[in-house]
Order: sequence, then structure tokens, then C-alpha cells
Amino acid sequence: MKRETFSSGLAVFFATLGSAVGLGNIWKFPYLTGQYGGGAFLAVYFLCILFVGLPIMVSEFYIGRKTRKNAVGALEELKPGTSWKYIGIMGALSSYLIMFFYSCVAGWVYFYLFKAIKGDFAGITMANAQSQFGDVIMGPVSPIIWQFIVMGVVATILAMGVKDGIEKITKTLMPLLFVLIIICDIRALTLPGAGEGINFLLQVDFSKLTAAAVLTALGLAFFKLSLGMGTMITYGSYFTADNNLFGTAAKVALSDTLVSLLAGIAIFPTVFSFGLEPSAGPGLLFMTIPLVFSQIPFGNVLLVAFFFLTSIAATTAMLSLVEVPLAYFTEERGVARPKAAIINAAVIAIIGILATLSVDKSSLLGSYTFLGRGFFDWFDYISSNVLLPVGGLLIAIFIGYRVKKEDLKRELSNHGRLHIDSILNVYYFILRYVTPALLLIVFLNSVGILKF
Ligand code: TRP
Repeated sequence: MKRETFSSGLAVFFATLGSAVGLGNIWKFPYLTGQYGGGAFLAVYFLCILFVGLPIMVSEFYIGRKTRKNAVGALEELKPGTSWKYIGIMGALSSYLIMFFYSCVAGWVYFYLFKAIKGDFAGITMANAQSQFGDVIMGPVSPIIWQFIVMGVVATILAMGVKDGIEKITKTLMPLLFVLIIICDIRALTLPGAGEGINFLLQVDFSKLTAAAVLTALGLAFFKLSLGMGTMITYGSYFTADNNLFGTAAKVALSDTLVSLLAGIAIFPTVFSFGLEPSAGPGLLFMTIPLVFSQIPFGNVLLVAFFFLTSIAATTAMLSLVEVPLAYFTEERGVARPKAAIINAAVIAIIGILATLSVDKSSLLGSYTFLGRGFFDWFDYISSNVLLPVGGLLIAIFIGYRVKKEDLKRELSNHGRLHIDSILNVYYFILRYVTPALLLIVFLNSVGILKF
């Protein structure tokens, strides 16, 4: 059977953007930007994208498109019989760990979309918003059911294939996501007091720009761009032969940041206009949004739009996460794609129950912790703080020191068709010296060896 590729440059762009845009954009980015000094944090975030995000993304694209293989097979082909293939194996492992808790949060989002359609949030109060959120996440049965529904959707799309599944869905839904978020933005910006929310997002406050803020920005850039675990290797292996890998990386990073900013613009003016606190994490997304949107004209329509766009973002990100082990099983183990999709999704849904049930701290599973963390937090910590930075570091070292510069040049210039000499030199220098140093610092800090 012929290996599939995306059918055009536009398909490459939307699929890759679909991977990058996820739950991280909708609440994490705006909240962190506000907490760590607004505009100043944003500037650091841009620098992180430039010096770590883009070089690693291009490197992953290179590995994938050059070999046209899954993450494990690709590294094995480039350096046969060496341990480099463990980057791919580690990637598949991180993909599962991320999916265990990501599918749980995605389940809450789907559930909220369902509740918004039913009109559950009409005229709710603060206390009511909190108790509804509590009911949703504590279940215990309903969040598991929604997690299974999420994985059913993901398996179905993936089973349809790279072109008919991933490409079709992302090409249809990503533009829709833009339209929906802009509608929410227009409504938010026409609220009284909207300016205060925009100020909150964009204020430049250098006093809040601590070492922790810089490290947070770097970690966020990494997770946001789906780097360090073979996602971009796997997607890169489906890119068209004439795709400009530097161009795609730049366009995806820029658009992903744009979506994050648009999400911040939708959320903060609304929050300030109603005199609410811009609180952190799940609270902001799941409690504040129903509360504020339910109080404004056309609020329920906007609420449905908002949770629909968040569902799109989460789903297309999950496609790329599961595609990593899926491509490995189909290509290296000869499992048929639909079968591999269903088995992977089922395993994730079943083990993911541990994450879902560990959210309720009063339950048997939730009260069980190991070194101070429950299942949900361990899955998150090991994948984001350990495996992703280590994976990124290894990829930077591999491309910077184990691959010949002429080989890089040949592939990145599409066999001489693109003139990329100056950008290649800049990329190569950053990848060899700047990126590994920054990643090492972040990793040592996140495991507590280096303290600021
Ligand atoms: N980038 C996605 C988000 O912002 C999540 C994601 C998808 C991811 N694939 C990944 C994160 C691979 C790390 C690695 O939500």
C-alpha cells in the first residue's frame, strides 16, 4: 500500500496548526500572560518560539519528511542499529501519558458543550457555576463516559486515514475555529469596560518578569507547538515534497500565537466587564465563561460557540498525539490502521480513567498520592516537565551534531529548489548552541536540580 501524504500546502498548514492549537491556547496562554507581566511575558514567549520552538519544529519536520516514516522508524532509518530510535519510543510513551489526562479535560469540554446546548447555564450564579463544575468533574460516571465519547471521536477520525480523516477534519474545522473565536472577540470587545481586560493582557510589567516567568514561557512554547515527542516528525512524514519546511514552521507558530491572543481577547474583557477575578486554569474556562456569557445578550449562542471551538481545538490536538503511536503500530508492526486506531483509543480511555477519577480528592483513588501527586498530576508532570524537554534536547543534539549539514541543506531546500542558505546558517547555529543550552536549563529546573 502506498504511504499517504497530505494533498496540498494548505492541508499541511491546517493539520499542523490543528495539532498546535489546543486546550493550551484557550485558557493556559491568556492566564499565564496575565499572571507573568502581560506584554513583557509575551515578548519572552516570542523569543522562546524563535530560539527553541522553531529550530526544534524544523528539525522534527526534517526527520519526518526525509524518511517518510513514523517517529521510531524514522530515527532507525537515519542511524540504523543505534539508540537514537528511543527518541521515537519515548515520544510514543509521552503521547500516551499526555493523552491520559488530556482526554479527561477534553471530556469535560464536550460535556460543557452538551450542557450549553441543553441550556443548563441559563441565569446561573457564581455558586451555581462552581457546583456545576464540581458535578461535572466529580461524576464519577459521567466524566468517564465523556472521556470514552472523546476517544470514540478521535478513533473514528483517525481510522478514516491521514487524508480522509486528519486532513478533511482539520481543513474544515480550523477555519471555523477562527470564525467562532472572532465572533466571541467582537462580542467581548463591545462590552463596557473591555479596555481593562485588554490592558490586563497587554500591560508591560517588567517587575513580574522573574526567572520562573521565563521558564514558564519556554515550557509553554514547547507544549503549545507540540514539540519533543515525535508529533511533528510524524506529521512531517506526511508533508508534500515541495513544502517549504521553514515557511510552514513560521506560519504555524505565528498562527498558533494569534489564536492564543484571540482567546485572551475573548476571555479577559468579559471577565473584567463583570468584575470577576482572572483566576487560574480550569476555573477560568469552566466556571467563568458560562457565568459571563450567560449574562449577556445572545450569551447562550456564544457559549455554545465557545465550547464548540474549544472542542475543535482539543480534538485536532489529540489527533496528532495519538497519530504518533498509531503510525508506529501500522508501519512497524503491520497492524491495520482502523484496528490500531480503536485499540490505541481504547487503551487511552481505559487507563485515562485513573486520571479522571483522581480529580475528586475525596474519593478512594483521588486520595491516593505518590510523592504528593495523584495520577492526573503525575501524567502531566512526567510528560510535560521531563519527557518533552528531554525529547527536545535529544532532537536538537541529534540534528545539530549527528546529521551532516549538507543532508540538512538538501532536504530543507527541497533538493536545491529553495534558496535558504542564510536562514539555514542561522537555524544551524541556534540549534547547536542556543537551543540545547536553554532546554537543559529548563529541564534541570523543572526536576529541581537547578533552582532560581
Ligand atoms: N499543542 C497542543 C495544545 O496546545 C497539545 C499537543 C498536541 C501536544 N500534540 C502535542 C503537546 C505533542 C506536546 C506534544 O494543547
